[in-house]
Amino acid sequence: MNYDIDKIRSWFPVLKNDVYNKPLIYLDSAASAQKPVQVLMKEEELHNQYYGNIHRGAHFMADKATNEYEGVREKIRAFVNAATIREIIFTKGTTESINLVASSFCERYVGAGDEIIVSEMEHHANIVPWQLAAERKGAKIVKLPFNDSGILEIELLVDLINENTKLIAVAHVSNVLGTINPVKEIIDIAHKSNVPVLVDGAQAAPHVKIDVQDIDADFYVFSAHKMYGPNGVGVLFGKEKWLNEMPPYQGGGEMISEVSFEGTTFNELPYKFEAGTPHITGVIAFGAAIDLMNEIGLDNMAAWEHSLLEYATEKLKEIDGLRIYGEAPRKSGVISFNIEGVHSYDLAMLLDKMGIALRTGHLCADTVMAHYNIPGCVRISFGMYNTKAEIDAFIVALNRVRMMF
Ligand code: ALA
Repeated sequence: MNYDIDKIRSWFPVLKNDVYNKPLIYLDSAASAQKPVQVLMKEEELHNQYYGNIHRGAHFMADKATNEYEGVREKIRAFVNAATIREIIFTKGTTESINLVASSFCERYVGAGDEIIVSEMEHHANIVPWQLAAERKGAKIVKLPFNDSGILEIELLVDLINENTKLIAVAHVSNVLGTINPVKEIIDIAHKSNVPVLVDGAQAAPHVKIDVQDIDADFYVFSAHKMYGPNGVGVLFGKEKWLNEMPPYQGGGEMISEVSFEGTTFNELPYKFEAGTPHITGVIAFGAAIDLMNEIGLDNMAAWEHSLLEYATEKLKEIDGLRIYGEAPRKSGVISFNIEGVHSYDLAMLLDKMGIALRTGHLCADTVMAHYNIPGCVRISFGMYNTKAEIDAFIVALNRVRMMF
């Protein structure tokens, strides 16, 4: 594989830092990825050269910023292979994208007695918005379970779907288990009963090639900050046929066509769902992250990260008393685990002092913790910049911590 890891690492200045006088080993990209110079420079370029409010101004800088912003919309359309830019809506992040659909779709399509199927391995962001909407509408949430290996039991889906089912919400990749779910198959089953599917792609978009037309997703959502872009920016892809019928999520500037005290008409897609001044800087800099990922090639990044996943899994399995949660054959670069007799917070705290950044706790996935009957766990996750040498250093540190207990 032609993967120039030294060049890639040189794009991320933060990786050269020490923490607590130890070289930083960043194993928390599933929470948020670090930012390359290309993204940082794009932010600077905008502010030094042509910052202005978009879609509104009658001056050079506003025009230039608008063109850059809309250029990124086209980049995102191509990145996920959507049919048209009308289907690409910028939001604050995955969470807001899901809240938008839960609020607006459910307002239009969900009523008392209806059901929404949500998988058991979802992040809280893909459970709670549906619960809130269901409560408002008198609808019910139905669980699609996973087995102990971390594989969704999609054979149950046919029986879970009935005439009251209005939507299925499922992660493309689990943030705890790393499982890459067979979303195309799930959508195919759902569509046989005319049930639309929302795919939470927050953990997939930095690692898995997305083709919303191929999988036939009705809604697909993700965040820039996990894709080496700025935080505070997300994307909602939605099929035009749904977005046209759904009422606006928020009212404000830009989302209207005409306003009077007698009533308001709304703007066309995608602007109908983009009320107010958006995160102009974030979206424009996100374009630089997309360019970078395209330049390296998502397949190359995925192959690199998969080799890290295999290497780290093998090393972790050699440690006595260590249990990994999530052993699906198709996995992304995420490993969650516990060591018998060691509290996950103690483990994370001691590793932090050794320069290793990882995540611990319930990982915003209480239903996954409940499945394994654990209060929390430790998670390492990989980005394009991690190396086997970092995994070796992590394993040495982990063994040292284990010896302390
Ligand atoms: N969703 C992010 C994670 O899993 C924050 O860490």
